[in-house]
Amino acid sequence: MREPVAASDRPIRERHRPRAPATPAHRLTEAADQRHFRAALLRWYRRHARPLPWRPSPGLYATWISEVMLQQTQVATVIPYYRRFLAQFPDVQSLASAQEADVLRCWEGLGYYRRARQLHAAARRIVRDYEGLLPTRFDQWCALPGIGRYTAGAILSIALDQRHPILEANTQRLLSRLLALAGDPTSAAHRRLLWSWAALLLPRRACGDFNQALMELGSTVCTPRAPQCARCPVARHCAALAQGRQAELPGPQTPVAYVERQEVAVVVRRADGRVLVRQCGEGERWAGLWDFLRLRLDHDTLTARALCAGVHALSGVRVGPPRELAVLRHGVTRHRITLRCYAADCRRAGRRRAGVQWVTPAELGRLPVSVTTRQISRLIEP
Ligand code: ADE
Repeated sequence: MREPVAASDRPIRERHRPRAPATPAHRLTEAADQRHFRAALLRWYRRHARPLPWRPSPGLYATWISEVMLQQTQVATVIPYYRRFLAQFPDVQSLASAQEADVLRCWEGLGYYRRARQLHAAARRIVRDYEGLLPTRFDQWCALPGIGRYTAGAILSIALDQRHPILEANTQRLLSRLLALAGDPTSAAHRRLLWSWAALLLPRRACGDFNQALMELGSTVCTPRAPQCARCPVARHCAALAQGRQAELPGPQTPVAYVERQEVAVVVRRADGRVLVRQCGEGERWAGLWDFLRLRLDHDTLTARALCAGVHALSGVRVGPPRELAVLRHGVTRHRITLRCYAADCRRAGRRRAGVQWVTPAELGRLPVSVTTRQISRLIEP
């Protein structure tokens, strides 16, 4: 018979052994689990990947364009833009030698126009600094306008199979569920942890396919609502599923604080049918794009006199009484804008301010403008 062991004689290790966790943890810590995860994910991707136009790996230039377009934009929206853009600017030389307005016109409707301007600026820098050869080093890409850690990693892993991790909205959700991380998935602490897991799980080879597989699984199976866990090739590694919390994880993000704004757009028309447009300057919401005259005026206190004075201050043009065309509602980043649109006839052209121009309807059709400005231009079509 074994002697009873006095409490104080119990081995230290046993006394301090952590209790079994109350909820099952993820199965990704062991090397064997990680190997299974990589193999299962890659196998699934090779069978189920959607045939998107930038797959299979189409080279640095096309991958760069697709990844910049895919920032903050859905795959289905990007596809026609990607095709048109590559048809118009098939390589970095053609992009660098284009006018910025033509690049913006090609981007019109895709939103976040800063991306197009930065893409164009980066193309010019590549031609100037690298003789038009696309860089192949992570630090070189990160030094270009509009390229951050995610985009540089995505371009080099997808196009050249270099070993760089990625983290974007889909992988963030997928990894958060695999690890059952509660809390705001966009917080700095959460993202730091997810970046380190994205690096840890990366295979030695097929990094581009692996990164695309993470994004593909996130966007088609591990969806924000009602994830289809029965179809998931890595379900056995998922702590959220083991805990039955896949629908509630990751936790809610810090909500966007929307700001209501009231604005006025004025279409100033000349007797010959030309309209007045203004190019938005650096630091403005639509820098580089053209717009009718936009005034930030409170609708409740708006008067014809204030509107005419605003038009004069912005353009140097005197106008007659304004007529209301429409009221449009649109959102830009965190702004919810109610836009009252007016038409007014030019009475005296005066000395035009810089950046303001009279254009025919046909010329307006070729200028890059925002979606609402295009909508207004249709309202005034003869
Ligand atoms: N989102 C960002 N990059 C992507 C890619 N290469 N494939 C699918 N979705 C993406």
